[in-house]
Amino acid sequence: MTDFAAVGATYDTYSNSGRGRLRHDLVFRRLQAELPGRPVRVLDAGCGTGEMTLRLAAAGHRVTAADASDDMIAAAASRLSAHPELTAQVRFLNAAVEVLDVGGETFDLVCCHGVLMYLDEPATAVARLAGTVAPGGVLSILAKNRAAIGSREALRGEYALARDLIESGTGVSVGHLGVRTRGDTAEELDRIAAEHGLSPLPWQGIRVFNDHRAKEWAPEPDEYASALEAEWAASTRDPYRQVAPLVHTLARRAPDGSSR
Ligand SMILES: C[S@@+](CC[C@H](N)C(=O)[O-])C[C@H]1O[C@@H](n2cnc3c(N)ncnc32)[C@H](O)[C@@H]1O
Repeated sequence: MTDFAAVGATYDTYSNSGRGRLRHDLVFRRLQAELPGRPVRVLDAGCGTGEMTLRLAAAGHRVTAADASDDMIAAAASRLSAHPELTAQVRFLNAAVEVLDVGGETFDLVCCHGVLMYLDEPATAVARLAGTVAPGGVLSILAKNRAAIGSREALRGEYALARDLIESGTGVSVGHLGVRTRGDTAEELDRIAAEHGLSPLPWQGIRVFNDHRAKEWAPEPDEYASALEAEWAASTRDPYRQVAPLVHTLARRAPDGSSR
């Protein structure tokens, strides 16, 4: 497994950059659109330093935040401690997603964002996560877009590398944190979710226009707001979303718990 203790600080820098905020804002906006207007039970599997955990808790939800890394859980807990009004809503669990055991508990929202790319294959984890989705609940997966591997490198002007990635079809490249990561397609993730009784919802492409930005990119508020709206408009539309570096897939279990 990737040593997240070593990349934790880098991850926070990335997460707080303009580029990182775009990802979080686009995903969070979509989650809010899919959630009922009342507090629900959430599982954030691979919670990292807790960005989505904190946002969801601040929105009133009860969050089980799981991660395979003690260091990432400690970082998330430390961020949470700055918000004492939220601490009762969050519990932490040290667990790898492929073997996650929540004792039969189910959740109205199950997030797994930025994790599958570090695993050898997606099916085991998606199966485990799908099993924790309550009737009417949603599984939300953010993964590296296998279909667009190489576009980030090309936009940065790293043409030889981009060409290798595009032609090789391996679906593996080096991500922002400097580690090799594996891509999945939205179609494949939707297919696996459907195999486990969930109905896929329209997927989003994340950061269509701004993936190549340097971590120092810090747009003025007006520019950021315009960028976010352009990204939001493109995120559910073809052909734009197809070339996004990240795919956000969502799938819902029928309210009566049946498989459709
Ligand atoms: C890039 S961070 C993403 C964090 C957070 N979900 C987000 O979107 O900001 C990846 C996280 O996945 C965790 N992770 C990696 N492999 C995992 C596994 N097999 N099970 C659970 N967590 C894992 C890492 O410890 C790290 O915290």
